[in-house]
Amino acid sequence: MQLLLSMLRSISFALFAVFALGACQSTASLEKTMKKDSHSFAQPEKARVTHLHLQLEVNMEQKQLRGKANWKVVYGPSVDTVVFDTDRLTIEQVNVNGAPVQYRMGPTDSILGTPLFVPLPLSSHLDSIAVEIHYSTHPEAGALQWLSPEQTNGKTHPFLFTQSQAILARSWIPCQDGPGIRFTYSADISVPTPLMALMSAENPQKKSPDGHYSFRMPQAIPSYLMALAVGDLAFAPLSERAGVYAEPAFLPACAQEFVDVEKMIQSAESIYGPYAWGRYDLLVLPASFPFGGMENPRLTFATPTIVAGDRSLVSLVAHELAHSWSGNLVTNATWNDFWLNEGFTVYFENRIMEGVYGKDYADMLAVLSHGELIETIEEFSISSPNDTKLDIDLKGRNPDDGVTAIAYEKGFHFLLLIEKTIGRPRWDAFLTGYFSQNGFGTMTTERLEELLTTELLSPEEIASIGVSAWIHDAGLPTNCPTPHARRFDAVDAALLAFGKERILPSSSATKKWSTHEWLRFLQGLNDLSTADAGSLDEAFDFTHSGNAEILVAWFQVAATSNYSTPELADKIRSFLIRVGRRKFLTPTYKALLENGQAERARAIYAEARPGYHAVAKGTMDDLLDYR
Ligand code: BES
Ligand code: ZN
Repeated sequence: MQLLLSMLRSISFALFAVFALGACQSTASLEKTMKKDSHSFAQPEKARVTHLHLQLEVNMEQKQLRGKANWKVVYGPSVDTVVFDTDRLTIEQVNVNGAPVQYRMGPTDSILGTPLFVPLPLSSHLDSIAVEIHYSTHPEAGALQWLSPEQTNGKTHPFLFTQSQAILARSWIPCQDGPGIRFTYSADISVPTPLMALMSAENPQKKSPDGHYSFRMPQAIPSYLMALAVGDLAFAPLSERAGVYAEPAFLPACAQEFVDVEKMIQSAESIYGPYAWGRYDLLVLPASFPFGGMENPRLTFATPTIVAGDRSLVSLVAHELAHSWSGNLVTNATWNDFWLNEGFTVYFENRIMEGVYGKDYADMLAVLSHGELIETIEEFSISSPNDTKLDIDLKGRNPDDGVTAIAYEKGFHFLLLIEKTIGRPRWDAFLTGYFSQNGFGTMTTERLEELLTTELLSPEEIASIGVSAWIHDAGLPTNCPTPHARRFDAVDAALLAFGKERILPSSSATKKWSTHEWLRFLQGLNDLSTADAGSLDEAFDFTHSGNAEILVAWFQVAATSNYSTPELADKIRSFLIRVGRRKFLTPTYKALLENGQAERARAIYAEARPGYHAVAKGTMDDLLDYR
């Protein structure tokens, strides 16, 4: 690839985009997958970055990163400016090929931040140049969460982690912050001893005695996959090429939970081809991490709430691993195409889970996904019907608005329908080709539709699936598959018996239930009286469940049935203060708000908010009318 890159570099400007985007995607496919990104100020068609050398000092006390980003920029003839995205960065100096230049900041947009314009010397040919930006971050930088020792497991050392997706990388690195622009990187990071630094790159497995860490990321990635974590961390191997990092006291539990990671990688590879990124490691973060997981290349970031003790929530690892193909290898061209990342990943996650744990298990995940899909379609059909389209237009909005069950579960069901229509052999062959032909490149919704309709499906199949309606229309097509899970039959029978005659499920039945069966049960309960909820709690002690998914489902049941005990109230409060995972915060606060406990919800939020990451604060501020 390096050789190919340097050959192309010297050919002509016409091939500019080819090498800048990545060497694997073919030129023809490339032209069709370049698209204007309304969430970045960068003008990559004129001047784009290809490599970054990052040097940063991490100051835990001042909550600041300070240093320089040295970008290699490639630009065409008669181009005189390169544009970077920034968000609340303090730019101290900019050097072009070693000499200071007069740079300029444009007007600030409340969503997109501030463009940085750097002048380039005019050139008559395709040229490349070094642009070195000296800068520091704002203490409130959107990507960064600085944790006090109390917010960690060990309670002794502070912790820092980044979350760059979707457009937060610009708050800690001046960059061309669009998913269609890829670059390789290296980094020198200094941290206070005895902390360890990790990135989405080749990582150390031991602490450095002087706090200096060097990283190398030889595969080109978009900026939203830039990641850094700093804390009191240790490493445990899971296999030759996989491992897990966590705070030392928590590490054994994590290593136990994730024993099947190697099997997952092998299952994934057997379906869509070789894992392209070398090692696959996990980093288990403190509980304020705002997501379940984040697919940072080579180093998935994960919430500790999936460490349930019984390996029941590891589908999240399958999901983040699946992104190593769908997302990290073939990347959504813009945030409007986000469903290409997530819908494909939910589909692939399900295939990996089927490979490792069997079809009955994967079917449960599919049925739960279907439930979420139906609920979201119902909710959005009233409030925002256009947001039920896969092909969504987020121009002028925060790309975060697109992070809904539509991209994930509607996307998944569309792909499931294609699979069911044409059969796995043809579908898998298509997808294997899709990943190898578009690897290290981007994909647009339009191009995918073209590939499906010209290279995969017959006219009859296109019509019976209704490809265009699935992609472009609001709502849910009537031919949406309804997955069925054998293991839920017993749960549904138990729900019926409870619904009709208030007969509690027998312990001989429930002792075989996994987390997923319990979720089906809790989500299927309706019209519960306070006393009903009380008898369920007495029988199954949901209030003391150590499983975060079950707890959150239970919080909702309790709120809607007006059931509360001092212990439950305390549990809700301490959970909301400790855990920052948005997927748990939203339904829990919502349930309180909608069931006459708005005041309590706001009081807890006021207490919990300082411990949340900016992306969770953003969503919860809106939900709870926080000012
Ligand atoms: N890439 C996403 C997380 C994300 C999406 C962060 C958009 C910021 C903007 C990640 O892969 C994901 O989907 N996480 C889910 C896990 C899951 C199993 C569906 C989550 O965090 O809940
Ligand atoms: Zn995902």
